[in-house]
Order: sequence, then structure tokens, then C-alpha cells
Amino acid sequence: MTAITYELIRKDEKTGARAGIIHTPHGSFPTPIFMPVGTQATVKGVSPDELKDLGAGIILSNTYHLFLRPGMELIKEAGGLHKFMHWDRAILTDSGGFQVFSLGDLRKITEEGVTFRSHIDGSKKFLSPEVSMQVQMCLGSDIVMAFDECVPYPADHTYALKSSERTLRWAERCKKTMTAPNQGLFGIVQGGMYKDLRKWHAQALVDMDFPGYAVGGLSVGEPPELMYEMLDYSTSLLPENKPRYLMGVGTPDHLVEGVMRGIDMFDCVYPTRVARNGMAMTWTGRLVMKNAQFTHDHNVMEEGCGCYACRNGYTRAYIRHLVRAGEIFGLRLLSLHNLYFLEEFVRRMRQSIIDGKFTEFRTDFLNNYNKK
Ligand code: GUN
Ligand code: ZN
Repeated sequence: MTAITYELIRKDEKTGARAGIIHTPHGSFPTPIFMPVGTQATVKGVSPDELKDLGAGIILSNTYHLFLRPGMELIKEAGGLHKFMHWDRAILTDSGGFQVFSLGDLRKITEEGVTFRSHIDGSKKFLSPEVSMQVQMCLGSDIVMAFDECVPYPADHTYALKSSERTLRWAERCKKTMTAPNQGLFGIVQGGMYKDLRKWHAQALVDMDFPGYAVGGLSVGEPPELMYEMLDYSTSLLPENKPRYLMGVGTPDHLVEGVMRGIDMFDCVYPTRVARNGMAMTWTGRLVMKNAQFTHDHNVMEEGCGCYACRNGYTRAYIRHLVRAGEIFGLRLLSLHNLYFLEEFVRRMRQSIIDGKFTEFRTDFLNNYNKK
């Protein structure tokens, strides 16, 4: 019995969209799912009870950040990440690969792993497949990501091949090291923006037999059409009975396109990051709450929204005032609203798949969202 299993509930007849359930040691959640990001063992400004209230079944956290601060010993001492942060539903942890590679000149890659300087105090650190697995075992996350290199964009074919080959060898090492029976290790498809590499990489990972697969190296600055094309090649060979996760995506329009191509899981800092910039997500596009048009607008952010802010009648005028005054509560109301919006978005998308109406959902959504 593996820690993570996928149950297929309904497949769309016209597209790759699917509705399912993922079972984990910390509960089951419906898919497609959106995972709020809790980089530093907290979803910024939002309590675990509030996350449950808006319907989150799983959140994402980061090996890189927790490894540097507070360190794995402390989290182990606390009894693991679930206990430490008081969250008893599922947790997925990214491996640190992506964050380390974004450090640019501050890091050096070898076959063994990556040496880098901490962005906190400049001290020298080392992450490798083995270290990443050990840290993630201390964290006790339900879903563990393999230690990979996200091929930068743009990259030539030679580099993309070399990097993706190394990611495969690293995936083997991750598999050997990750021995915890209650944690599921996902492989990550890389291959840059090359069709042949994407197919080869996906097949090689499938041969290694992981309980789930992620598509990495996308949403890294490439045009959306190229991302969708690469996504097609990356998922075409993945087994139907395993979950598929598109890393670092994203916005509602990218979510609907990902689901159409058979993706089950998403994560992105987008809803909480734009909340901190005073932006509200709605079914008809985004609202910039600072704008003068909301000065006398005594309506809620979105009529009919079930989030804490809208269901309790907090108005656009009030939120605009809070944002302009730099009040934390304004950012909290926006975060709660945006996270609710995305969770509700995936819930409705899932229902449309079950009802056999996904294509209509997609068309309606894109029409309304891009209207303004
Ligand atoms: N987050 C977004 N993209 C990636 C990726 O390619 N690899 C990892 N590990 N995390 C990501
Ligand atoms: Zn709301």
C-alpha cells in the first residue's frame, strides 16, 4: 500500500479533464485541487482554521526555506511540520531544487548536488537529492517532491538534455533515500521547451514507477501557447491511475487550460501575492482595490461569494480604505477572498466535469473573465 493513491471519478469525454480523489495519510481531497502556498510554514496571514473554512484540503510548503530557517532539527523536535504549524490536513513539500536554482550566481551545481549561499545570512549550504529527502522526511509531508533542476527558459537543446538527464539520475537517488512508508514521492517531468525531451523524460519517470507525477519547468517566462503545447507532451504518457501536478501554476485561465490537459493539482503564490498588492480576483476579472472607482462602492467584492469577507458584508469601499491605509486586515480580507475564489473555482470546475459540462464551463469562464 502506498501513501498516496488516486481514485478516478469521472473523465470528460471531449477533453483530458478528469475529476478524482487523492487519498493521503492526512485525509482525502477532491481533484482538480488548488494548493495554497505556505512557504514558511504559514499561508501568509491566514490561520489553519480559516484555510479549512475556505475548503483547502492540502497546502504546499518549501524544503528550501524551512531547511534554512528554522532548520529540520527544530521541526523534527516539534513532531513534524503538521504539528509544528497546527495543520492536520495534507501537506506537499517542494524539494528545494526550484528555489535554489533561482538564486542565480549564488549557487554551484555538480552531479552530487547544489552548493549555495543562504539568502538569510550568506552562509554556505548544500542540498542534494539525499539531503532534500532527509529534510522532507523530518518535515513529514504527505507528498514529497523529487530534487530536480528546473530547466531555465530559454535553454538550448544540449543544456536541456544534460540537465534533464541529471534530474533523472537525481530522481533515482531520491527514490532510494525516501523510505518513509507514509510519504509519497512524486517524480518531476522536465525537458525544457523540447517535445522530444518532454516525451523521453516523462516515459523514463513512468518506468521508475512513482505514486504521482509533476510537470515542472513551465510557467518560467515562455508564452502561454508554448506552455500548453509542452504540457500536452508531458502528460500524454503519464498513467491514468496516478495524480498529475502542474508546478507553480497559477492563474484561473491557466488552471482551466491545465485541467483540460489532464492536470489534477496546482499551486501558486498568485492569490496571496496579488492580495498583498490590493487585488481581488473575481469571476469577471481582477479588481484593483486602490482605484478611485471603489471609493463609494458599498458592495462586497463579489456578489454571492461565500468567503469570510463577502459573506459578512465587508465592502469594496471599506477594503479600499484598509488597503490605502496599509492595514493588515485589508490584506487578510483580500487573501481570504482570493483563496476562497480559487478553491471555489476548482470545485465548480470539478462539478462541471462530473456533470459532463466541462467544455461549457471553460467557454463561459473565459468569456466572463476576459470581458473587461
Ligand atoms: N515550482 C515551479 N516549477 C518547478 C520545477 O520545475 N521544479 C520544482 N521542484 N518546483 C517548481
Ligand atoms: Zn469573497
